[in-house]
Amino acid sequence: MTWSPDSWRNKPARHIPDDYPDPAALAEVERELSGYPPLVFAGEARTLRDRLAQVARGEAFLLQGGDCAESFKEFAPDNIRDTFRVLLQMAVALTYGAAMPVVKVGRIAGQFGKPRSSAVETVEGVTLPSYRGDNINGMAFTPEARVPDPQRLLKAYGQSASTLNLLRAFAKGGYADLRNVHRWNLEFASGPQGERYMALADKISEAMAFMDACGITAGGQKALTEVEFYTSHEGLLLGYEQAMTRTDSTTGRYYDTSAHMIWIGDRTRQPDGAHVEFCRGIENPIGIKCGPTMEPDELIALLDILNPQDEAGRIVLISRFGADKVAGGLPRLVRRVQEEGRTVVWSSDPMHGNTIKAQTGYKTRPFDRILSEVTQFFEACEGEGAYPGGVHFEMTGQDVTECLGGAQAISEADLSDRYHTHCDPRLNANQALELAFTLAEKLREDRRRAAAAA
Ligand code: PEP
Ligand code: CO
Repeated sequence: MTWSPDSWRNKPARHIPDDYPDPAALAEVERELSGYPPLVFAGEARTLRDRLAQVARGEAFLLQGGDCAESFKEFAPDNIRDTFRVLLQMAVALTYGAAMPVVKVGRIAGQFGKPRSSAVETVEGVTLPSYRGDNINGMAFTPEARVPDPQRLLKAYGQSASTLNLLRAFAKGGYADLRNVHRWNLEFASGPQGERYMALADKISEAMAFMDACGITAGGQKALTEVEFYTSHEGLLLGYEQAMTRTDSTTGRYYDTSAHMIWIGDRTRQPDGAHVEFCRGIENPIGIKCGPTMEPDELIALLDILNPQDEAGRIVLISRFGADKVAGGLPRLVRRVQEEGRTVVWSSDPMHGNTIKAQTGYKTRPFDRILSEVTQFFEACEGEGAYPGGVHFEMTGQDVTECLGGAQAISEADLSDRYHTHCDPRLNANQALELAFTLAEKLREDRRRAAAAA
């Protein structure tokens, strides 16, 4: 079957708006975008594939995280820095615990469009189209705001470009130098996670001083002064993704240059659907969300389509069952992938299966259930002889009150204090770091056990 960047247009496409009032204006915007500079380079996406291949072999761990939905309103340098910084802190904790490299991938610089469970929203008897992400329509509950506007795609491109520019500066320009490991913590140094982090930072600084004294770090080793940071988002709005898809001059292959990695959502993963069709022809690493309705046969069919040569680093399977369903549903998927001898990264998204509605009406997620799903994910993978290779969190560097619990003990009554998300509830900086420490301990134990058994 031949593929082209627009062959998805002949397939059923779910969750892509078809109610733009002026389709010609949308086509014009897409044409314009197709002439804009790429946001990422093909070579970078290839390097990420190499890194993910390492994860697939059990030699590295994947940390993916960021907003549920980026927004025009929350677009500010401090917010970008704070998310980047917490991801760095989490990665340091995980690297130390697992004693292996951590591949860092943000849900950032392009994570705008959202699939919605209902096409409409009703408030006090008034029904309007649902909010679908800032690159499509507006969040305000007015008929005007909810009309899809193609100009929003240009704004989202611009925001993604400057977000990525800042991230590149942070990653390569000195901020991420491991010598700054203490400075990343300044704003929450006093809380329990901050203290735990400072103790770790002390150990790292001592180790660095020792290496300096030995002359090992004298040349300013890149591995210590810079980080590799990759971007990802759900490849939902295929018109935009198509416009950002270019032929790589080195290999002659197609890459979606809107992000290093693209994932297919749990609601758009139909093997004969538009999203799978689009992703099959691009060379980027592809994530596939696997929820409770995923059947083993269907998963294998998807792997046949998306990774026919079984190349390592191409596929990340992102398990998102919910704490009450993961033990029942995940093992049979893992078993089947093992039996078929497919090469994948298994990652846990403990967010999307654990959303509940608080008494007060807020959508929230209890920290305990999030932690429980990750723990059961590890057990499910290990029980089937597979490597639990990563985690995928919705989180922010801000001190929001969107998820319940954690050491901060956020209660239902607290939710209204700082509930800012444009879609799903996110872990705040403290909760995200707490999870990373807990996971790091688990990875360290696994490592000790493996060493003792060897
Ligand atoms: C998401 O990652 O924001 C999302 C919508 O997830 P899922 O497709 O797993 O529901
Ligand atoms: Co979400």
